[in-house]
Amino acid sequence: MTSKDTPVLAVRELQISFSMYRKGLRKESLRVIRSLSLDVRKGEIVAVVGSSGAGKSLLAHAVLGILPSNAVTEGEILYKGETLTPALQRKYRGTEIALIPQSVDYLDPLMRVGKQAACAGGGPEAQRAARAAFARYGLEPRVERLFPFQLSGGMARRVLIVTAVVARPALIIADEPTPGLGAEAATETLRHFRQLADGGAAVLLITHDIDLALHVADRIAVFYAGTTAEIAPAEDFKRGRDALRHPYSKAFLDALPQNAFKPIAGAQPYAGRPPQACLFADRCPERTNACAGAVAMRALRGGEVRCIHAT
Ligand SMILES: Nc1ncnc2c1ncn2[C@@H]1O[C@H](COP(=O)(O)OP(=O)(O)OP(=O)(O)O)[C@@H](O)[C@H]1O
Ligand code: SF4
Ligand SMILES: [Mg+2]
Repeated sequence: MTSKDTPVLAVRELQISFSMYRKGLRKESLRVIRSLSLDVRKGEIVAVVGSSGAGKSLLAHAVLGILPSNAVTEGEILYKGETLTPALQRKYRGTEIALIPQSVDYLDPLMRVGKQAACAGGGPEAQRAARAAFARYGLEPRVERLFPFQLSGGMARRVLIVTAVVARPALIIADEPTPGLGAEAATETLRHFRQLADGGAAVLLITHDIDLALHVADRIAVFYAGTTAEIAPAEDFKRGRDALRHPYSKAFLDALPQNAFKPIAGAQPYAGRPPQACLFADRCPERTNACAGAVAMRALRGGEVRCIHAT
């Protein structure tokens, strides 16, 4: 039974490895997601930020159950308190749990886009709901009759959003929904997510555009090298680097063009050769000898952090 405090999505210590062949027939396991944990509650938008390759899309695909067949997952993913088994993922995918994928290639190339959206909606009202959603995203009725290859990048992205939300899912995972949309449409899209959350949906918003996310998100999760480095109220990101907990979150904020535009020297560790110390140790200005060892997440000042020195 779920209580009102049960998160819609709970990810606990998620790990993802890929088994692959290297140098002839030698099989290796590459652990690209090391430890991801986060919750998203009803009515909440949690934005996920982090460098390219940090594991944001893989988290989305793990929740939906659409990882490649050579992926091995450990840890737990719960939907409304229930472990998401492959059978439940199939049952909920596209209805209760919807993905707005990072790539527009997810649209079916052989089906008119209006039909794709109506099919995603399910019931008899679906066509009408799809039409209203098309209009809301500035897509004229004639667009419904087009095939994906006839759409511009921005139109295809709007069709993906409509197709995902038309069934009114309880959990929406949006993987970079705004690139190519233009400032006005991007703002309107995020405003729509806020309305969906205010209407009771839980939204996991993966984005590079933290400025835009800060207008609508309740909390921000910062990913680094396949781990959750920090989870903090969005308010802390608005207050600036001193309100944050993890040295990577602070460096991430400093690197934004609207701030100091100061790049972080170095790169995320390669998954095949992870350091024995904290994963950020090579780049961390706060590093001490005590940082040699795996670091667990802990609660701090109304958020969570994976750093032994954070205060
Ligand atoms: N099928 C795969 N086989 C092996 N490694 C993979 C596979 N898919 C993803 N990876 C690796 O897993 C890591 C995380 O990938 P992911 O796509 O989740 O990154 P991301 O945070 O979404 O990045 P971006 O911001 O560029 O979209 C990367 O290092 C990537 O190379
Ligand atoms: S544990 Fe140490 S190396 Fe890692 S982020 Fe914290 S201070 Fe830096
Ligand atoms: Mg991605």
